[in-house]
Amino acid sequence: MDKKVILSGIQSTGNLTLGNYLGAINNWKKMQEDYNCYYMIANLHTLTVRNDPETLRSNTLNLLALYLAAGINPEKSSIFIQSQVPSHAELSWVLNCYTYMGELSRMTQFKDKSAKHADNINSGLFTYPVLMAADILLYQADLVPVGEDQKQHVEITRDIAERFNKIYGETFKIPEPYILKTAARVMGLQNPNAKMSKSSTLENDSIFLTDEPEVILKKFKKSVTDSENIVRYDEENKPGISNLMEIYSAITGSTKEDIEKEFAGKGYGEFKTAVANCVIEELKPLQEKYKELKSNPDYLEKIYKEGAEKAYQVAHKTLEDVYKKIGMVWL
Ligand code: TRP
Repeated sequence: MDKKVILSGIQSTGNLTLGNYLGAINNWKKMQEDYNCYYMIANLHTLTVRNDPETLRSNTLNLLALYLAAGINPEKSSIFIQSQVPSHAELSWVLNCYTYMGELSRMTQFKDKSAKHADNINSGLFTYPVLMAADILLYQADLVPVGEDQKQHVEITRDIAERFNKIYGETFKIPEPYILKTAARVMGLQNPNAKMSKSSTLENDSIFLTDEPEVILKKFKKSVTDSENIVRYDEENKPGISNLMEIYSAITGSTKEDIEKEFAGKGYGEFKTAVANCVIEELKPLQEKYKELKSNPDYLEKIYKEGAEKAYQVAHKTLEDVYKKIGMVWL
């Protein structure tokens, strides 16, 4: 039986956080065994906000190195840079013509981002989900591992695909969002009520995968907690401690009850140090591998070239089918 197809991606803005690692790529690594996986670097999506070109270029390559360092294996999965497979931009245009303004204006991410970037509400920000639909549909993906915040975008992808299939016949596989139970939902260390983010403006709020051990320790020590001084899981009233427990549990495999027992009678200081140490240990091999990869740009180039070729073979076939069905004169 053919393996099911998985596609996912992360935008190439800034450094990846512990949240991206525990919530996404660490699980992507495990899925490589059971699925046919496509892991993309969504650098075209990154254009919806202003970037310095050189920074964007280096962020894209850094993200590739991080995927590899985190254990995404190019022999098992297709790893590619979105802009290097032209079919994404091409299908996106076509799908724009099958997507309604009304449905796009209901997207919560669009509302949030346009509030945040009020000086640059460009049409790319508005049609962002259509490019994401193209990413997914080109590979006939069965499952799309995403966080809660991206679920709505997978739902609109399904609507667009169903609409297209209804007019032209079976063309796209209808994908499902894949919200993993094992994925940890990591919140900010300074504001534990919001997701840990690459672009948080709060100092010490996010742990970056490339943070040095001293920095990681310092950030955990400064993390916001409460005054009860009992390590106990209570998301509502103790979001800070609960978040630290979530992180500790995701890395060590201990349950919340185990952790409560382990730290009974101990203060927050000791718990914070324990969490920091397990994160430092977990990231150590990844950081070593990352440094090694960064010093070998030729190898990275070989990986993205091969990845783009592999992805193009599949993407191009879907695009050809679409172009023929909608009446483009095929070359
Ligand atoms: N929009 C996703 C995010 O911001 C990134 C992304 C782009 C993506 N294309 C995708 C995720 C396709 C899953 C599938 O996190």
